[in-house]
Amino acid sequence: MDKIKVTFFSAKDYDKESFEKAELRDAVDITYLETRLSPDTYKLAEGSDVVCVFVNDDLNAYVIDKLYEMGVKLIALRCAGYNNVDIEHAFGKLHVVRVPAYSPYAVAEHAIALLLTSIRRIHKAYIRTKDFNFSLNGLTGFDLHGKTVGVVGTGKIGRIFIDICKGFGMKVLAYDKFPAENSGIDYVSLDELFENSDIISLHCPLTDETKHLINEESIAKMKKGVVIVNTSRGALIDSEALLAGIKSRKVGAACLDVYEEEADIFFEDRSGHILNDDLLSRLISMPNVILTSHQAFLTKEALNNIAETTVNNIITSFDNDWCCDNELCYHCGNIESCRKQRKKKCF
Ligand code: NAI
Repeated sequence: MDKIKVTFFSAKDYDKESFEKAELRDAVDITYLETRLSPDTYKLAEGSDVVCVFVNDDLNAYVIDKLYEMGVKLIALRCAGYNNVDIEHAFGKLHVVRVPAYSPYAVAEHAIALLLTSIRRIHKAYIRTKDFNFSLNGLTGFDLHGKTVGVVGTGKIGRIFIDICKGFGMKVLAYDKFPAENSGIDYVSLDELFENSDIISLHCPLTDETKHLINEESIAKMKKGVVIVNTSRGALIDSEALLAGIKSRKVGAACLDVYEEEADIFFEDRSGHILNDDLLSRLISMPNVILTSHQAFLTKEALNNIAETTVNNIITSFDNDWCCDNELCYHCGNIESCRKQRKKKCF
């Protein structure tokens, strides 16, 4: 039988390394492309059965229609979030599979790393001591112990983040649209969370409902000096409102692994270029903003899990008449529980 043909968009060296080591690698014929999948590049998937994509590949209705016309059958996401895919439009045309959990620890630990770096001024101390400047002026931080952290989204990553925070002796408040029963988590309303948290960390998906969850109005409700951590999706935060909050000193610090307009910027070396995004430039220039470029997932463990699960998702879909547990679909209108409740294919 011919191998399943996969066009792999947004490929980086670390992706190739982990996919080339995947156990069932030989069952698929992978063409690695560095380019992002977009309305301008979809033609590169001509002749493929599968497009394998990441967080900033654009699978809007137009791209989905074009891929469908070209005979592509499957979108294999190498990530958990699927806000970049028009799942509703894909229904009946292309099956969509994802990697629901590759290492929630990687993301939760990165959120903590950003938080500690920011509040203990490690980013500044590192640069100072490299230059043999051993002064401590301006490096005063604060204890996490005893502080209140508000966690939005108590899924896989949010819960690990909560456990770590509890280890620091922090008080945890949480908000989730679907609170976990018997979890011992102290759920409050979103407003209560905004009003009472010293630190707010976002771990919910990006949906129409959560877009710009952090905005001018919600920032106004927060404590002065609040630290906002976002390792989830950039558009959960209205970046203009965040910048205004930082300038007015209402927001004490922002720890960002994601940015709402990251798609054309992140994952590439842009040093030596003029950045055309004034808002991002201004945010980066702030002494109390730390930014990593969507790096939270990047651990060996996560990369290996992504590669193994993605290759398995592809093979299972083709060999098992599209019955793959990691499929997302619109069959019953509820993308994720649909997957859990059925054992059949979505269409
Ligand atoms: P998950 O699906 O296990 O948990 C998400 C939680 O958010 C669920 O408990 C869900 O009920 C809740 N939720 C859904 N709608 C909500 C709403 N309107 N308001 C509040 N809560 C809501 O997902 P997981 O694995 O914990 O991932 C969370 C997010 O982290 C993903 O959606 C993704 O955007 C982001 N992520 C970021 C990575 C990075 O490298 N920066 C890597 C992996 C995930």
